Amino acid sequence: MTKRDFLKIADLSLAEARDVFGLSRAMKSAEKGSHRKVLAGRSVAVVLEKASTRTRVSFEVGVAQLGGHPVVLSTEGSQLGRGEPIKDTARVLSGYCDAIAFRTFATARLHEMASSATIPVLNALSDDAHPIQVLCDVFTIEEVFRREGIADGIAGRKIAFVGDCSSNMARSWVEAAQIFDFQLALAAPKGYFPPSYEVESANGNVSLHSDPRRAVEGADVVNTDVWASMGQEAEYKARLAAFAGFTVDEKMLAGAEKHAIVLHCLPAHRGEEIDEATFEGPRARVWEQAENRLHVQKGLLCFLLGVTP
Ligand code: CP
Ligand code: NVA
Repeated sequence: MTKRDFLKIADLSLAEARDVFGLSRAMKSAEKGSHRKVLAGRSVAVVLEKASTRTRVSFEVGVAQLGGHPVVLSTEGSQLGRGEPIKDTARVLSGYCDAIAFRTFATARLHEMASSATIPVLNALSDDAHPIQVLCDVFTIEEVFRREGIADGIAGRKIAFVGDCSSNMARSWVEAAQIFDFQLALAAPKGYFPPSYEVESANGNVSLHSDPRRAVEGADVVNTDVWASMGQEAEYKARLAAFAGFTVDEKMLAGAEKHAIVLHCLPAHRGEEIDEATFEGPRARVWEQAENRLHVQKGLLCFLLGVTP
């Protein structure tokens, strides 16, 4: 069987993403402990070249709940930090493990891991994409929409992303817009949008705005993320200045749908990309968003490894 990687959203067809969501729903609704044989005898490596709280813990706990063995490796504690090539690490891990979740910097590092490993590789965040997070967020949105009687699914709805639209998060949202067929309105200062070829490949599902209120107008969901991502710490001050006026707050949300929810992949910088009142307010669904990382990643792992719970 050819191995299946998940390096970007488009690595799944719509039908396959729906299969993953089905598995994820089954995982979420099952009693704790009921899936403890699904990955029995299997191991999943979580290789982190950047900091992580949610990704690390949700993978580690998720694999353990499925009866598998998670192995977490960080740059500092492994030979990666002493210059061992990724292609060598990939081949060694392929001999021990059944999948690798990899968090890294440049996409080239991710591709080196994926092309050298003989087991599935999952992009657990790179400079250009955070596909697992966005897949989980689409799941959360559909779950909230159904529960609150807003819509049957995400197709045809308006999703806004305000802030750093050149970020890994915004760029994975662009990919998701085409696959799940929703309207994505991006609001950012000039110079902070995704590469134009990515926007063009979204087949008209993505619009760009310099005024965040225009992007948020009529939106069902408003997303944001930090203004300086991991690896961009040196640009922090310049970015604070560039993003002035892009803080998601109640005033900005005035034109959104009454039912509009607010998402943030976390960690959040209150007072920067989102104000405290909105982050802690009734529109924010960030905690269930974070929890769903656990359930959807379990579904995704089962799908990629071809195991049925
Ligand atoms: N959202 C997310 O990926 O969080 P971590 O950086 O804590 O893993
Ligand atoms: N854009 C953020 C996401 C963190 C989960 C970063 O890359 O730091």
